[in-house]
Amino acid sequence: MNKLQLATRSKLGIQRDTGKQQKSPKKCEESIMPYKEVPNQQSLFHTFSNAAEIKDFRKRLLIWYNKCKRDLPWRKLATSEADADRRAYAVWVSEIMLQQTQVASVISYYNRWMQKWPTLQELAEASLEEVNELWAGLGYYSRGKRLQEGARKLVSQMAGHVPRTAEELQKFLPGVGKYTAGAIASIAFGQVTGVVDGNVIRVLCRVRAIGADPAGSVIAERLWALAHTLVDPAHPGDFNQAMMELGATVCTPKAPLCTECPVKQHCRAHHQVEKDLVVFTKRLLGKAAPRCSQMLDVEECAITTGSCSLCLPPSEPWDPSLGVTNFPRKSTKKQPRIEHTVTCVLQRKCSDEKLEYLIVQRPSSGLLAGLWEFPSLLLEPGQEKQQKAALASHLQAWIGSDVAVGRLQTVGEVLHIFSHIRQTYIIYFLNMDKDEGNWDKEMALPASRWVTKTEFQNSAISTAMKKVLKAYEKWSSKIDAAKVAKRKRNILHTTHSKPEEESRSSKRQLSLDSFLAAAANN
Ligand code: ADE
Repeated sequence: MNKLQLATRSKLGIQRDTGKQQKSPKKCEESIMPYKEVPNQQSLFHTFSNAAEIKDFRKRLLIWYNKCKRDLPWRKLATSEADADRRAYAVWVSEIMLQQTQVASVISYYNRWMQKWPTLQELAEASLEEVNELWAGLGYYSRGKRLQEGARKLVSQMAGHVPRTAEELQKFLPGVGKYTAGAIASIAFGQVTGVVDGNVIRVLCRVRAIGADPAGSVIAERLWALAHTLVDPAHPGDFNQAMMELGATVCTPKAPLCTECPVKQHCRAHHQVEKDLVVFTKRLLGKAAPRCSQMLDVEECAITTGSCSLCLPPSEPWDPSLGVTNFPRKSTKKQPRIEHTVTCVLQRKCSDEKLEYLIVQRPSSGLLAGLWEFPSLLLEPGQEKQQKAALASHLQAWIGSDVAVGRLQTVGEVLHIFSHIRQTYIIYFLNMDKDEGNWDKEMALPASRWVTKTEFQNSAISTAMKKVLKAYEKWSSKIDAAKVAKRKRNILHTTHSKPEEESRSSKRQLSLDSFLAAAANN
């Protein structure tokens, strides 16, 4: 490390990670670290081992959180609700909804949910259909189902009392993993336990320059240990929420706002950016500086051989143009599988001339379990060429009579991306006659029903199917517009052709007049 760097580090209040520090943190482990992590030489650079630094980190983060936190409905409930079970329920619902879903999308769902089922007992009495209806559009539908199952379990087996620790919560509640259990226990009950979600991963990887793939089990364990080390024993719930809030609003994936970061003093990634800046400035001023920032101690990890399992891999070293977004390292994502589904908007006019659509219920397990959709058929690979025939025969099962392939009108396609599937819906339209179909036949089929557009919108329908309806409506209004235009053209044709005739005859008349006038003159 050169003098300049040492000066910068001391200005920023960072002590050099040396072997000496390994011996001293005993006191802080007892007084500050609720979880014991014994840092070895390899991990010192990537951990928090200095009691004063940990204290300062907590203080800065909590001050910032209290000043800058977003005003979110579940936060109000978590602080204002005196009953611990009700508090836990409110946090549990919010945490489940927030899994894989942005805060902005969750707020209205959360408010509606808490209004409809303010207590565990009320949720336990709800039907799955009601839960799915409220959840429609939020995605990952098993989450709602699990909440309801959990509520029933708590009411029937625990008289409505929620387990008080993360460990018990994880064991007892379906769909509650390590993160959610830690969040409920720390926010609702004040258990001193850290949490690690996507936002926390990003913050931790940046502050401790962890460049290894955070999805790996060893690194994940290290991140949990770090979270447990950092969590404030006096305010664990607020601390955990502050870490998540920081990740969501400041330490964002692509354009982090480092100048606004309350803990930038403790951020190894930020330090590296500052060092880069010094190097580039020097170079700009024509002062001697190494050509490449990597020649500086980009890796200040004690392991200098490039074999530290937490550092950026030697194959992907620090890139100055990326700044702090060098961390965390992108996990290699599995490519989503590609699927094609044919679906049919089946429409009929009922006696009062209102339009209705047939919707059918999906199986009770698997993708979009229990939700309603237009009759649909997932195509087997290679079945695309016979898709219309396949759909026609599939529809026969629903309407009880043959469907001529030629009656199916092509609407178009919509693409919907699920977490692991790129699903293309190929949409057809079929207009049913009033007396067509054999609806009364008793058939061993999943549930189906005819609904108006409003009923469709209020049913437990996935976002993908709502997109299908939109695409159909667009197509249908184009067809209607084309029909109207054609009719107009026809009308214009007939009305315009008259004056033409008239003008032709009047021309004829005119020439006759002029002929007569000429004759009279003669
Ligand atoms: N994401 C999930 N839970 C959160 C919380 N309680 N605060 C902020 N972001 C979150």
